[in-house]
Amino acid sequence: MSEQELPYDFQVVSPARPVASIAEDAQKGLFDRPRSLPPKYFYDDRGSRLFDQICDTKEYYPTRTEAALLQRYAQGIIDLVRPCHILEFGSGTSRKTRYLLDASHGLQEPVCYWPFDICSTLLHDVAMDLLHEYPGLGVRAQCGDFTAGIDHLPQPPDRCLYLFLGGTIGNFDHQQARGFLSEVSAHMQPGDALLLGADRVKDHLVLHDAYNDAEGLTAAFNLNVLSVLNEELGADFEPDQFDHRAQYNAGQQQIEMHLIARSEQSVYFSHLDQTLQMRANEGILTEISRKFRPEDLQQLLQEAGLRQEAHFQPDNGWFSLVLARKAAAGH
Ligand code: SAH
Ligand code: TRP
Repeated sequence: MSEQELPYDFQVVSPARPVASIAEDAQKGLFDRPRSLPPKYFYDDRGSRLFDQICDTKEYYPTRTEAALLQRYAQGIIDLVRPCHILEFGSGTSRKTRYLLDASHGLQEPVCYWPFDICSTLLHDVAMDLLHEYPGLGVRAQCGDFTAGIDHLPQPPDRCLYLFLGGTIGNFDHQQARGFLSEVSAHMQPGDALLLGADRVKDHLVLHDAYNDAEGLTAAFNLNVLSVLNEELGADFEPDQFDHRAQYNAGQQQIEMHLIARSEQSVYFSHLDQTLQMRANEGILTEISRKFRPEDLQQLLQEAGLRQEAHFQPDNGWFSLVLARKAAAGH
C-alpha cells in the first residue's frame, strides 16, 4: 500500500501563532490574582480518561442529552451535508461521533474521519478502536492545540462536516468563542458545515449537580490539574490539600470551577525556582462552562460569519445542536 492509501495517519498540528508554554501560563495565571489556569491542562492521559468517566455519571446530563439528539438526527444531518470528511475539534473518545459515522455508511464513498485533540495518547488509542470498528473508514488524527490557531491544520480536500461537540465551546469566554468560530469559518469551503453542541441555561440545581457528581469524579478531574503541574513543572502541590468547587454564576450564565486551598499552602516549582504562597480558602479558577440561550448561539454564530441552518434540541431544551454554514460574503 502506498502512503496515500494508508487508512491511518497521525499528524502533529503546529501552532499557527505563538502560544504560551505551561511554565508561562503557570507564571501568569498562578502568581497573580485572580489566580487561574487554562483548561487545556486538564487533559493529560489520566484527565482525559477521567472526563470520559464523568460522561457516564447520572448527574452529567450533557453527554447523554447530546447523544440522544445525535441518535435521532444524525441520519438527517448526514443526508443534508453528504460529507466526504468529518473533522472533529476536541474529539476525546469520539463516543457520540459514532452516530454520525454509522449514518455515513450509506454514502457513496466511505468518509474519512479527522479527530483533532490535544491528548496524543487518547487520540491514538481511539483511532485504533475506530479503525477496527469501521472497516473502510480512513482516520487522519490531528494532534494539536486549537487555541493556537488552525492555519496549520490541513484542509480536507472535499466536502467536510466540522464538529465541535460536548459543550466545549462553553469553555471559551465570548471573545475566545467568537475568535475560534471565526477561524473555523475561515477554514471552511462552500458546501462544508459545522455541527456545534452547546449546553443551555436551565435549572440551577441541575447545572450544579452536573459539575458536582456524588462519586467525586469531577473533583478528581479538577484536582488532576495539580498533578499535571507537579509533573510538568516539578511543583509539589499536595492535591489532597485542595477542594473542588463548582458554582453556577447566574449573572454570567456560567459554571465556575475552582480549586480551593484547605489551609495555607507553600508550593515550590522547581522548574521556575519560585514558591507560590496561597492563603487558606484562596482559589484557582480552572474552568468556566458557559450556558447558552438559543438567541445567544445564533448571535455568536453570526458574529463569527456563520449562519444557522438547523437547530436540534430535546423537549426539555437542555442542550442544543446547531448546524451552521458559512454566511454568504458581504453578510
Ligand atoms: N467531544 C468530547 C470530549 C469533550 S471534552 C465529548 O463531547 O464528550 C473536551 C475535549 O477537548 C477533550 O478531549 C480535550 O482533550 C480536548 N481539548 C481541550 N482543550 C483543547 C485544546 N486547546 N486543543 C485541542 N483539544 C483540546
Ligand atoms: N466541556 C465540558 C463542560 O463544560 C468540560 C467539563 C465537564 C469539565 N465537566 C467538567 C471540565 C469538570 C472541568 C471539570 O461541560
